[in-house]
Amino acid sequence: MLRKTALITGASGGIGLDLAVLAARDGFDCVLIARNEKKLIELKHVLEKRYQIKAYTFAADLSQPDSVSHVLSYLEEHELTIDLLFNNAGFATSGRFAEIDPSEDINSIHVNVVALTELTKRLVPGMIDRGFGRILNVASVAAFMPGPYMSVYYATKAYVLSFSEALASELDGSGVTVTCLCPGPTDTNFFDRAQITLPFKSMPSHLVAFAGYRGTLKGKRVVVPGASNRAMVTFAKFLPRRLLTEVTGRIQNPDQQQQETPEEEAAFSS
Ligand SMILES: NC(=O)c1ccc[n+]([C@@H]2O[C@H](COP(=O)([O-])OP(=O)(O)OC[C@H]3O[C@@H](n4cnc5c(N)ncnc54)[C@H](OP(=O)(O)O)[C@@H]3O)[C@@H](O)[C@H]2O)c1
Repeated sequence: MLRKTALITGASGGIGLDLAVLAARDGFDCVLIARNEKKLIELKHVLEKRYQIKAYTFAADLSQPDSVSHVLSYLEEHELTIDLLFNNAGFATSGRFAEIDPSEDINSIHVNVVALTELTKRLVPGMIDRGFGRILNVASVAAFMPGPYMSVYYATKAYVLSFSEALASELDGSGVTVTCLCPGPTDTNFFDRAQITLPFKSMPSHLVAFAGYRGTLKGKRVVVPGASNRAMVTFAKFLPRRLLTEVTGRIQNPDQQQQETPEEEAAFSS
């Protein structure tokens, strides 16, 4: 029987690396995509040795408009058919919208939204023809609320959630499922890259990846890992939208964070 193949974007670290380990452990061949080729090759060697699968690496900057076409050409060249697609690569910008480098915001839209949509669009028809496919799109709890001072990031994740739920509904009965993973703060390189210091504890990446991976194999539509994250999402659904936005803005306002005394912070969070 032909072995199935998983494609994982953002496999060079964090949640994507853990997703690749889970797929390889289950015997799936893996196509590993990210910019850092050295890390991808290191991971390829570990996965092949440990799990006796075949791993392929392709270094791509998904913020570049033609990057997905290059990925597709690579798959064709190697005669690879993708059965599991993990659209995981993503990053955030933070600060006042007017002050963030415009190219950084645009790049984040390309990685978080455009590349994810294009990869799905190009790979889904084959999955439908074969009557099997599993797609995991990584959003965030940020998908459930507007996020002042990370406005573009929150909006990209709202897109990912809406797109994933709609596509899952369209594909019902086709053998292809779409799962949207919505993590809360997770212990990866994500916050360093976004230049944010987290004031609270984050979830281990492998637990987040496991929840998303298991949900994907089961064909679940939305996975929010962790009880406190699920409580936050429920809270967000019931709070008036404007109040929710003010609360998120208050938490994320870089000036407020500097000015508040510990007593003020405690009063606000109680
Ligand atoms: N960590 C959190 O708290 C958290 C919470 C909610 C949602 N998420 C989401 O989870 C996903 C994974 O993030 P993470 O937490 O694992 O962060 P991470 O450790 O920073 O990993 C991000 C991955 O995306 C890749 N990536 C970033 N920019 C890229 C680009 N231009 N082209 C190709 N690949 C790129 C990175 O690889 P290279 O740098 O090698 O390109 C890396 O493999 C993201 O979609 C993120 O939005 C994270």
